[in-house]
Amino acid sequence: MTELTPPSAAQGLGEEASIWFKLTPLLRGNPQNPLKTLLDISQRHDGVIAVNMGNERVVFLSEPEHIKHVLVTKADNYIKYFDGLKPIFGKSMITHDGAVWNKIRMPQQAAFHPDMFGEYVPYFLDAIRTKMQIWEGLAKSGESVEMVEQTWTLAADMICKALFDRDMPFNPHVVFKYVKTYTDVMNHKSIRLRKQAGELVELTDVDAAKAIEAWWEVPLAVLAAEPREDRERTLLKMIEACVADPAIPEFDHQQAVDEIKQYLWAGTETTAITLAWALYQASRDPSIADRIRREGEAVYGDREPTAADYSSLAYTRAVIQETMRIYPPIWGLMRVADAADTIGGKEVKAGDRIVMFAYGVHHSPKYWDAPEEFRPERWLGDAAKKRKPYTYIPFGGGKRSCIGGAMSQVENTLALSMLLRRFRPEYVGEEPPGIHATVTLCPKGGLHVRIRELS
Ligand code: HEM
Repeated sequence: MTELTPPSAAQGLGEEASIWFKLTPLLRGNPQNPLKTLLDISQRHDGVIAVNMGNERVVFLSEPEHIKHVLVTKADNYIKYFDGLKPIFGKSMITHDGAVWNKIRMPQQAAFHPDMFGEYVPYFLDAIRTKMQIWEGLAKSGESVEMVEQTWTLAADMICKALFDRDMPFNPHVVFKYVKTYTDVMNHKSIRLRKQAGELVELTDVDAAKAIEAWWEVPLAVLAAEPREDRERTLLKMIEACVADPAIPEFDHQQAVDEIKQYLWAGTETTAITLAWALYQASRDPSIADRIRREGEAVYGDREPTAADYSSLAYTRAVIQETMRIYPPIWGLMRVADAADTIGGKEVKAGDRIVMFAYGVHHSPKYWDAPEEFRPERWLGDAAKKRKPYTYIPFGGGKRSCIGGAMSQVENTLALSMLLRRFRPEYVGEEPPGIHATVTLCPKGGLHVRIRELS
């Protein structure tokens, strides 16, 4: 077994050279929704904005054809940007480019083929049932809870059960806290400023460095845990087969550890934020919740849904799709230009940071009627098929698009349908909830709800 690289001091997202840190002043204009400031700027320009920040340029793109140019047409000219996120992802697939990326992604691709969803659904349902038992208790106690934490623990349970054949071998609430602590750029900034001021930095439980050290233990716990059923066709088994395959020497034990890390972050955080925002929308507009309930009743009645029922849950799925339009969990896709280029008539220099502004294109009045309105109906019928390509990019695009996007829609559609058929989460926070844009687009301070059981 290869040893883990020892955790270094807090590094990363909030370092001065990091794009995440550089973006923070730009995002200050509107404290309730910092992305509105960027949206306003992008709408006043022609979709390509180059901003000089210290010794480098950041180029923001918010036109679909420019996004396609980077993701597809000249994809090899734009490499992944992972500064600051390496401690989370290690050397997992998501951080690589070129031939090595291809060798790591291809053998895992089969685990995300729609043919596999039928095998996963019973495990998704198992995790949803566990969550329903917890909500039954919360409904009785009447206490308020934070929804992203609720949905994060559900999403992590689904990944562990369906993809790894494990019960969660960690306390998901503790891991959730660590993930949140690490991805908040401001935590890094405060550590850096204290170090610069010559303070002796005592790392406490809420510090980013401590959080990342704890995070590194999580994949090891997954590997060490007993399988639930010794299933043969799981993602974890595919990963283990890659480690044993001499034809892929890059795929060593550390690669396996890092792949697990990647799935537990990329596959839970984004899925969880989406479901939490969808439940908020359903709480805000009871007609949405009613329609989801009626659809569930018509499609699967008193039994539990099956994989075959998923395609019939069209309205519920549309709620998930519309949620990802309004609140794209990855609000900006990052790249670095590997060579000089021209986009929309503007020069791009090698080394420029590229931000493809998903939130901007999702909220553009050029491509969406009433873009600020939550309208699941836009995803039903022919209108959805006529949509201009690259105007909706919650999962990115081109060869680097999300490996688990389609699966996450199955998870979230089933969870939304089943949870709402029994419960009515009542949003008790500030209206409208603020937006916190760090690596992901999260509700500021969370979404506080009381769980009510339907009679
Ligand atoms: C609502 C749910 C999700 C959203 C919005 C989302 C979003 C994204 C986006 C935007 C990318 C591309 C980033 C880029 O091009 O820079 C991506 C990549 C990725 N996602 Fe997801 N994701 C979701 C769910 C999942 C799930 C469920 C998994 C797996 C269990 C997953 C695993 C990955 C991986 C491994 C990559 C990297 C692919 C590669 O580099 O080839 N994601 N995701």
